[in-house]
Amino acid sequence: MCGIVGYIGPKEAFPVIIKGLKRLEYRGYDSAGIALIKDDLMLYKKKGKVADLEESVLGKELQANIGIGHTRWATHGEPSDRNAHPHLSNDGNLTLIHNGIIENYASIKQELSNKGYTFSSDTDTEVLLNFIQDIKLNEKCTLEEALRIALKRIVGAYCILLMDKNDPSTIIAARKGSPLVIGIGKGEHFLASDATPIIEYTKEVVYVNDYEIAIVKADELILKNLGNEKQTPFITKLDMELAAIEKGGYDHFMLKEIHEQPSTIFDCLRGRLLPQIGEIRMSGIDNNLEKLTSAKRIVIVACGTSWHAGLVAEYMFEELCRINVEVEYASEFRYRNPVVNEGDVIIAISQSGETADTLVALESAKEKGAFIFGVVNAVGSSIPRISHAGAYTHAGPEIGVASTKAFTGQLAVLSMMALRIAQAKGTISNERFIHLMKELEAIPEKVQDILKDTTHIQVIAEKYMNATNALFLGRGYNFPIALEGALKLKEISYIHAEGYPAAEMKHGPIALVTEELPVLFVATKDSYYEKIVSNVQEIKARKGMIISVATEGDQIIPSLSNDTMFVPETDEILAPLLSVIPLQLLSYYVGVKKGYNVDMPRNLAKSVTVE
Ligand code: M6R
Repeated sequence: MCGIVGYIGPKEAFPVIIKGLKRLEYRGYDSAGIALIKDDLMLYKKKGKVADLEESVLGKELQANIGIGHTRWATHGEPSDRNAHPHLSNDGNLTLIHNGIIENYASIKQELSNKGYTFSSDTDTEVLLNFIQDIKLNEKCTLEEALRIALKRIVGAYCILLMDKNDPSTIIAARKGSPLVIGIGKGEHFLASDATPIIEYTKEVVYVNDYEIAIVKADELILKNLGNEKQTPFITKLDMELAAIEKGGYDHFMLKEIHEQPSTIFDCLRGRLLPQIGEIRMSGIDNNLEKLTSAKRIVIVACGTSWHAGLVAEYMFEELCRINVEVEYASEFRYRNPVVNEGDVIIAISQSGETADTLVALESAKEKGAFIFGVVNAVGSSIPRISHAGAYTHAGPEIGVASTKAFTGQLAVLSMMALRIAQAKGTISNERFIHLMKELEAIPEKVQDILKDTTHIQVIAEKYMNATNALFLGRGYNFPIALEGALKLKEISYIHAEGYPAAEMKHGPIALVTEELPVLFVATKDSYYEKIVSNVQEIKARKGMIISVATEGDQIIPSLSNDTMFVPETDEILAPLLSVIPLQLLSYYVGVKKGYNVDMPRNLAKSVTVE
């Protein structure tokens, strides 16, 4: 939530920051703002996208070599010019941008109001800023010291960048819970919520840790903890190319990312899945094999699409490894005082590695002695850093707000994990192990087959784009895909959609079926096939409009359906990797045909760093 960019050095700060904000816009896009310091402080803010901010400052004074910028996903206060960041302190000297939530802001605001402070926004950020100003005045201390005192008193999550107009040579930054990366250039520094605004200038970065404060000058970076002790910055080399974060000729990131899946799944399997020698090599698993094979219980925590990947994993782990698996919404798991025993394995699944609900769930499970394994896409993000072990999905930066390639990357990693653990436990026969490895190896090519021609899916999208509701149904391994299909349609096309296990229909949702209701069956050939054919019949008997995802060559499901999208055959355990692809495309084309911004759907943000 919210993107943060800062620059200090010889370059013009404005273009660097605007370009950076555009790269971070996936994190929030309801308003944007920028503060620059030259002889005076220049502050510009605008409701809307970064492009609106850019247009609004045409012809204004923008020359400066230091600045901070923000693109917002509103938490406290509606999206508006006045609630946009940066904020200005009452004395007009300090300016601040913030990603996160200050939970005890109301009591601090009251305290400050009693002292005569006034507020021009509804945000918690403006409260924090004036709190810092107040401490600086009362304690007669430096800005850095005032910030340190303030941070010890606030409750919540933050990544902040702070500037004082009387010190145009310093940006002070701090983080707890929300990400911050500092790029190290030659006589210049770049600050951002992730590496994408930095990558074209330098590949050397420092990931700031929780409870650290960075004092950043053009030619100096000092890191300290909240106890004012200096920390040694750990410099990491970015393994990312600029092309990975550009659209590369596609109309939208979402479409590009859908089409990247043959290669992202291949990259995920490469060097790990070795059917020729009958091995799966994953260091995170191999180094912790005893813990994973002896686990009595695996708890998977995740949110949204990643939670759906967790549901698929539940089926896989239980079937192949014979381990009891529970899949939890991270937000619920954390707050309901769950039973976590020493020896429990917690698998956290996350594209961004920054999802606040997942992070706090992990922190509390870790305190209770669980072993934490992260399945994450964003390299260097927070979840891998607090996990005991893990496996990256290697899908590359996912920019479209709707998760697509990260999801299939998660499924690929989880399949390999299940297979590797099953092999080590002896709960899978060698023949089935080799068979599944070969099937998995063939997945990238089969995904490519589905993507070869999407004309048919575009026609289906056109036909159903004006529906107001839809039901998505599946059984077994395809049940989570029904949920995922419904989530994709909701977020991208704003059509109300629900996913259900197909057999649950008759326990209630079937009452919704009319001639106008599209009912989407994920009905590939698997051990539930006969059963789902009956479920399709039940909808047909009630004149529902049936759209299906079926296996190539199947004749029964298509004959019962108004429209069918085909996928190649595979083992049922791996079917989700294929059956999700037509559903991603369907949502994409419905959204585009309705004229929506599919990369930045309303009210959403890519990285949900607030609880
Ligand atoms: O980064 P994460 O995987 O932890 O994010 C979890 C969800 O916020 C995310 O999957 C969300 O549901 C996406 N918008 C789905 O497309």
